[in-house]
Amino acid sequence: METRPWFSPLVEHIGGVSVAELAERFGTPLYVYDAEVILRRCEQLRRFPVVRYAQKACSNLAILRLLRSQGVVLDAVSAGEIVRALQAGYPAQGDPPPVVYTADIFDRPALELVARHGIHVNCGSADMMDQLAEAVGGQEITLRINPGFGHGHSQKTNTGGPQSKHGIWHEQLPECLKQAERLGHRVVGLHVHIGSGTDLEHLAQVCQAMEQLAGQAGPHLRSISAGGGLPVPYRPEEPELDLDRYHQLWEQTRDRISRQLGHPVQLEIEPGRFLVAESGYLVAEIRAVKRQGERTFWLVDAGFNDLARPVMYGAYHPLSLCRRNGNPAPEPLVEVSVGGPLCESGDIFTQEEGGYVVSRPMPQAQVGDLLVVGVAGAYGSVMGSNYNSKPLAAEVLVLEGTPYLIRRRQELEELLANEQVPPPLAQ
Ligand code: LLP
Repeated sequence: METRPWFSPLVEHIGGVSVAELAERFGTPLYVYDAEVILRRCEQLRRFPVVRYAQKACSNLAILRLLRSQGVVLDAVSAGEIVRALQAGYPAQGDPPPVVYTADIFDRPALELVARHGIHVNCGSADMMDQLAEAVGGQEITLRINPGFGHGHSQKTNTGGPQSKHGIWHEQLPECLKQAERLGHRVVGLHVHIGSGTDLEHLAQVCQAMEQLAGQAGPHLRSISAGGGLPVPYRPEEPELDLDRYHQLWEQTRDRISRQLGHPVQLEIEPGRFLVAESGYLVAEIRAVKRQGERTFWLVDAGFNDLARPVMYGAYHPLSLCRRNGNPAPEPLVEVSVGGPLCESGDIFTQEEGGYVVSRPMPQAQVGDLLVVGVAGAYGSVMGSNYNSKPLAAEVLVLEGTPYLIRRRQELEELLANEQVPPPLAQ
């Protein structure tokens, strides 16, 4: 079985490079990605004919380049993500489309880019079909369907069912198909994504829904997309996704649909988290160790401005320690709660949904030691913010034992660069 260093209490190396040296050279807080882990995940997914990376999980250009080298195509959900895809060297058009714009609306910049480059669109609303036709006339399109149910690791990542704003409601597919025809669009793809961090049981339900939908979608259907949502274990005891089973379910569904339609249909999956989550670590320095009543806090120089998942979802991330002056033999663990530098009580890495602060057994540490937050590669740096006027962290990719800076730390001056004081206030 694959070793999973992110679950060790002490993490001294990432991809063979010393964490202490990385912190010394690039500073903290620092995101570090181990390319080897991403390549392994690509290998595991090779059995799927088309793997479309949901770049919202981690959209750094270097990561996109790495995935492109593995034949992975891209999903883009905004003008910015289209620009990233093109910058990473993806052609705008091809078969399968190298870049698909998936959203529930076009904002104006996104529509402009889609029109200019002829990017394939996965429409999550009927209005998008109208706006696309108005901008560029009839196109080949995909429809994103909300199958009437959904599931995610949190209610906030459930993207199906009547509470969700996403996709075209399944009962409206027939009228959308008529509308598409009227507008000169050709529906060549169907897409269903029920949520992020779900499980095999719920993912399997999507197969049945897809089969029903495909029956209605008609003769031009060329591809079905199972969406993303493939879970990864954030705790050592959590099971890994049974990829064989998942693949088998979808292959069978695709085959049934192909038979039903009488022509071959391509199968796509659209994972984000699965490809990058376990490759990424957030390295922070412990800047204070203090006791509040019975509780011991480590306060580190990374906060929810760097990693928002704990405060947003009560998400659990494995926490490890790297001592600056080497790791002596194991010793009794201590219970600690871990927080960041922000002026907000929710700035805690050890919290549960609802904001309850909990503790973890950790090796003893001192100010100056490093906290290593694991499984932070997906929805980590991309959800970073400038809250409290904190610069965005630097990012490093470790490739074959060599660390490369792939995003330099934001400078304090850059935080102010696009602000202006109006003349009456300038004295
Ligand atoms: N496809 C669509 C249409 C999506 O909306 C998403 C995620 C994905 C694919 C990729 O899902 P994944 O394979 O990564 O689960 N910030 C949250 C996750 C939000 C996911 C949004 N959409 C988190 O940190 O858990």
